Amino acid sequence: MPVDEAKLNELMEKMVGDLGAAFSTALVVIGDKLGLYKVMNESGPLTPSELARHSLTSERYVREWLNAQAAGGFVTYDARSGKYFLTEEQAYALADESSPVFIPGAFQIIGSVIKDEPKLTESFRTGKGFAWHEHDPGLFEGTERFFRPNYAAHLVQSWIPALDGVEEKVRSGAHVADVGCGHGASTLLMAQAYPRSTFVGFDYHQGSIESARRRAADAGLADRVRFEVASAKDFPGSDYDLVAFFDSLHDMGDPVGAPSHVRESLAADGTWMIVEPRAGDSVEENLNPVGRVFYSASTLICTPASLAQEVGLALGAQAGEARLRRVASEAGFTRIRRAAETPFNMVLEARV
Ligand SMILES: C[S@@+](CC[C@H](N)C(=O)[O-])C[C@H]1O[C@@H](n2cnc3c(N)ncnc32)[C@H](O)[C@@H]1O
Repeated sequence: MPVDEAKLNELMEKMVGDLGAAFSTALVVIGDKLGLYKVMNESGPLTPSELARHSLTSERYVREWLNAQAAGGFVTYDARSGKYFLTEEQAYALADESSPVFIPGAFQIIGSVIKDEPKLTESFRTGKGFAWHEHDPGLFEGTERFFRPNYAAHLVQSWIPALDGVEEKVRSGAHVADVGCGHGASTLLMAQAYPRSTFVGFDYHQGSIESARRRAADAGLADRVRFEVASAKDFPGSDYDLVAFFDSLHDMGDPVGAPSHVRESLAADGTWMIVEPRAGDSVEENLNPVGRVFYSASTLICTPASLAQEVGLALGAQAGEARLRRVASEAGFTRIRRAAETPFNMVLEARV
């Protein structure tokens, strides 16, 4: 079959865009680490040498970085003054840690999996898992920084209120577990919002639990939050009013065994909240830019994480609601519904 030149050009054009995007990983991580975006946000338009001076970096590197970033639309160049600046939107995405769309954490995640590539390539050959805790540590902090803004924007404002009867319970004093809590971003946001309740975050990864404890102490919340190393199938405690899984169910080796344990640990009228990436039920529904990001993360992080544990069901990050409902039913939950959603997440409520 002869090559269709127009189609080939179209493909190459897309590849060139993607090559620039792929290089952005290192560029954004560098800009974030050195505070270049933050300095630009605070100072307004700057020449490369001004930015270098304010950020204590080298002018020649910063000048080239600025041009790469301007060509990608991450910063803006004013040819008349020779200065570079961030638009409101660029600052919102790249410089403001409190914005709901703060994105550098995602680039930190991508940077971490590139470092892990040789081990992941080997896993493709052997079929063996590659566990969450075996990853480059950039994954743990990147996940916290990427997910936290989303939780800060939705968890207390809309996800908890969307659950049947849960908001009243946590306002008046409930017992809550956050399973697979990582650095505890979601746990701490809930603890801050509901001072009468007590919260415990569990994660099998010791390093993440130590980070979560430091975050709790820094936030002055250590009196109502505990973080403990425990797996989803044997975390301690009973009579929980709410057990929440934030983007952790599909990373587990046994995503049916875990909710079976949740069911046993809940109070009679307790709720299991499952936050998962939003996905359609069929592959073709997910062949879009968001699905591309999730399938990629799933290939390099979530699927190997699950395969590294017992059972190794490997749901993947794009399992879809129908598959997740089946998992919850197999674990003994009968009332399962989609309580809320955002462009990236769905929130399922499951009750016995
Ligand atoms: C994608 S991260 C999400 C972390 C956190 N919930 C958040 O939203 O920022 C998945 C987490 O699940 C944890 N995890 C995976 N399998 C687990 C298991 N079987 N038991 C407990 N935690 C588990 C990992 O250690 C990791 O911290």
